[in-house]
Amino acid sequence: MSFASRFTLISLIAAVAVPATALAGPPPQSLFMDNCSACHQPTGKGIKGAFPALAGSALVQGDPTLLTTTVLNGRAGMPAFKDDLSDADLAGILTYARSSWGNKGAPVTAADIAKIRKAPPKARGLQAH
Ligand code: HEC
Repeated sequence: MSFASRFTLISLIAAVAVPATALAGPPPQSLFMDNCSACHQPTGKGIKGAFPALAGSALVQGDPTLLTTTVLNGRAGMPAFKDDLSDADLAGILTYARSSWGNKGAPVTAADIAKIRKAPPKARGLQAH
């Protein structure tokens, strides 16, 4: 294997291994702090009776489509974020929420968000009309 192809291989491995925080843009944790923590709290535990906990939430850790449409469109007392957050930023925030505070959801990519944004499923009564 030539030096060049070995180098490319190593870069590829590094790119996959390095978490999303190393990609361009503000780190997901600070995006969460700026956009979500005022209500859901830095601990992800929310405020009982006002803002639901994201820590331990089945919706947060489950089907990324439902989670993404909820955050894009907002719900009840939660604002819509579709005009405020890029695909990459939202992917970072959701991946952060899915893997923090004991949560164990798989990462969400910017490509996933872009797809869901373009073709939102007929959500089960979650979208305001
Ligand atoms: C202004 C306060 C506020 C902000 C800011 C906010 N939320 Fe919410 N969020 C709420 C409220 C209130 C609900 C409950 C809505 C309902 O009763 O249907 C909620 C619900 C949710 C849910 C559903 C939880 C569940 O288990 O059903 C998710 C997921 C969520 N928010 C994620 C986020 C994310 C991610 C951000 C930042 C991008 C964010 N929220 C920012 C107030 C907020």
